Amino acid sequence: MGESRWLITLAKRCFWAQYRFYTSTMTSLLVPPESVRGMTCLNRAAFETTVELPYLRYRDIRISKIKPVFKKYLFRMRNFKPIQKENDEVIMYLNPLLIKCFEDFVEEEKVLLEDYKCFGMTKVTLNYDNWNSYDMLKAILPEGIEIPTSYSLVGHIVHLNLREVHLPYKIIIGQIYLDTIPAAKTVVNKINIIDTTFRHFSMEILAGDKNTITTVKEHGCTYELDFSQVYWNSRLSTEHTNLITFMKVNDILYDVFAGVGPFAIPAARKRIEVFANDLNPEAYKWLQRNIKINKVEANVKSFNMDGRDFLRSVVKTDILNRRVNNKAGCEHIVMNLPALAVEFLDVFFNWFNSDEIKQMCYQPPIVHLYCFVKVNKSEDACNVARSLVEEKLGCTLNSDSLVNVHYVRNVAPAKEMIRVSFLLTKNILKGEEPAMKKLKMKNNLNEPTNDNITENNGKEQGNAKKAKEQECIQSSDCS
Ligand SMILES: C[S@@+](CC[C@H](N)C(=O)[O-])C[C@H]1O[C@@H](n2cnc3c(N)ncnc32)[C@H](O)[C@@H]1O
Repeated sequence: MGESRWLITLAKRCFWAQYRFYTSTMTSLLVPPESVRGMTCLNRAAFETTVELPYLRYRDIRISKIKPVFKKYLFRMRNFKPIQKENDEVIMYLNPLLIKCFEDFVEEEKVLLEDYKCFGMTKVTLNYDNWNSYDMLKAILPEGIEIPTSYSLVGHIVHLNLREVHLPYKIIIGQIYLDTIPAAKTVVNKINIIDTTFRHFSMEILAGDKNTITTVKEHGCTYELDFSQVYWNSRLSTEHTNLITFMKVNDILYDVFAGVGPFAIPAARKRIEVFANDLNPEAYKWLQRNIKINKVEANVKSFNMDGRDFLRSVVKTDILNRRVNNKAGCEHIVMNLPALAVEFLDVFFNWFNSDEIKQMCYQPPIVHLYCFVKVNKSEDACNVARSLVEEKLGCTLNSDSLVNVHYVRNVAPAKEMIRVSFLLTKNILKGEEPAMKKLKMKNNLNEPTNDNITENNGKEQGNAKKAKEQECIQSSDCS
């Protein structure tokens, strides 16, 4: 028994040793020359190298007969056509990591090839235009340094987030990204942390045009923006759609931290009335521009105010008018400033007087509040977010008030972005701050409460229930 286990272990070791030898010797055939290691100033000519490639050369054969069989072996590199015509012949270049010699083909393939006698080896010159960014950066950066592979593309701008170890190579990294990403015209690197007030990044231009004004498309809407002055995050694209799917004609959207309009504009295109606000004058300027280019002027009013003032004046007045005029539809207050939005929740205490609160309770507005939470492995991010909101509101979100807790995205290791959607019920609107201090929280941050996140105990009422049902259709996260 012991001996057989030992033999299996030995066999495994031999296999992996052979595998490592094979892959290391073989991949060394297909990397840029070693002389580029440590390069900080881009010398494109230094990337030229000659490799020996297997090929199939044939004439008078229909390509459709050969191609399906050998397609899997094609030699695929950037800007390299693996099937080329030479006079009246066709030459098909194959990947030398997969085929080194005739013996590497399987039996049926060999039979087919023997009929035509067309296999051979040839030398091909590869240059800078053939390597992809990963191969080039792996060849340039000192061994052991992680290759910076992640970036986001915002219109024509490639946005990198380089680490300290990459900085001596930042210009060459920028140039390689510029050369290898077809849509790229400018490459920027984030410096320091995000601007805490207006949530846009401080950045430096590494390569390309010194132009940070760009155009982005998201779900059929067009946004123009200056990426160095305003907040834009393509990773929120799904969430922008998720939330709008939740809204219907006759609903109204109060977007407290609207940015350049990625919630406001699609909502307006759905014929939802929108009040969009942002404190950053640049965001406000581009928001107005985007309202125009998407032709939604009739449905959007824009404001350049502090979110707190916007809620206290514009939103409050409009909600009261809607009550007086018996307007149908749901009021959605969207608060997407995840690092700070919970600090704005005290606005809702004493927002309305007691008569007004009575009018509110027929159909309470829904708040969609975004927050960041730091969690360890044993914690559920949705529950932590819910507790955070409850703590700020000074009351628990129960089945009457909690609409949904929705996982949006992972922001950094152990840092998650969550949306907590809840109704502004009488309880919350009446909340006086002293009561908040007295409140004994039902659960602390480490003890998850699940009533409205995971289970429907049959007690949900009115809007909370309806709204939750709608949300369930479009999101299964956290439920
Ligand atoms: C995270 S961004 C969200 C933008 C947009 N809603 C989106 O989804 O892309 C937050 C926005 O809040 C704005 N902001 C920051 N503080 C504010 C405040 N006190 N009042 C109003 N807007 C504020 C910033 O300028 C920024 O555009």
